[in-house]
Amino acid sequence: MRIIVGITGASGSIIGKRILEVLKEKDIETHLVITDAGKTTMSYEIGDVRTVEELATKTYDINDIGAAIASGSFETQGMIVAPCSMKTMSAIANGFEINLLVRAADACLKQRRRLILVPRETPIIKSYAENMVKCLELGAIVVPPMVPYYEKPKTVDEITDFFVGRVLDFFGIEHSLYKKWGGL
Ligand SMILES: Cc1cc2nc3c(=O)[nH]c(=O)nc-3n(C[C@H](O)[C@H](O)[C@H](O)COP(=O)(O)O)c2cc1C
Repeated sequence: MRIIVGITGASGSIIGKRILEVLKEKDIETHLVITDAGKTTMSYEIGDVRTVEELATKTYDINDIGAAIASGSFETQGMIVAPCSMKTMSAIANGFEINLLVRAADACLKQRRRLILVPRETPIIKSYAENMVKCLELGAIVVPPMVPYYEKPKTVDEITDFFVGRVLDFFGIEHSLYKKWGGL
């Protein structure tokens, strides 16, 4: 299995990091691209960008538009953009391939592969909502990082694991990151 992971400048770089950690534990090949703003936010929220990059099988420069993941002929099971900024969501919604991350996302859409977007912003304005709808219409799966209050989480790590588990479910990856709901 081979999955592309994109990390943007939205808050929540811990989500992208945790996805990479779990995929590494499962021996799944990961191809990582981080935007410039993604690196800025990550430095602030996590501290060290290189530690995150080292979790991936391969890391690409955001401007390397000749990279393998830019082409639909490079076979993958799909891509996860987590977290996804409103700017990157807008670019994907409009096919505006400003960098390798957006190009790789478009390549997944055109090959009809899974594209999971994890948009994080609050509150939402009309343009954000409209871009989200455009992404849905293009075939992306939009998974906002919501807090599972009913699980009564005690730590940010628990919330993150629950959420990462929900994302990995789309790829049929087995995990024990959260307990599946069995009814009240
Ligand atoms: C600490 C921090 C937190 C941010 N949080 C968000 C956020 O939650 N959502 C968002 O859309 N942008 C957020 N931004 C702004 C984006 O980083 C900014 O719009 C950037 O241009 C996005 O570029 P990118 O899509 O190329 O990563 C944040 C910026 C910083 C520094």
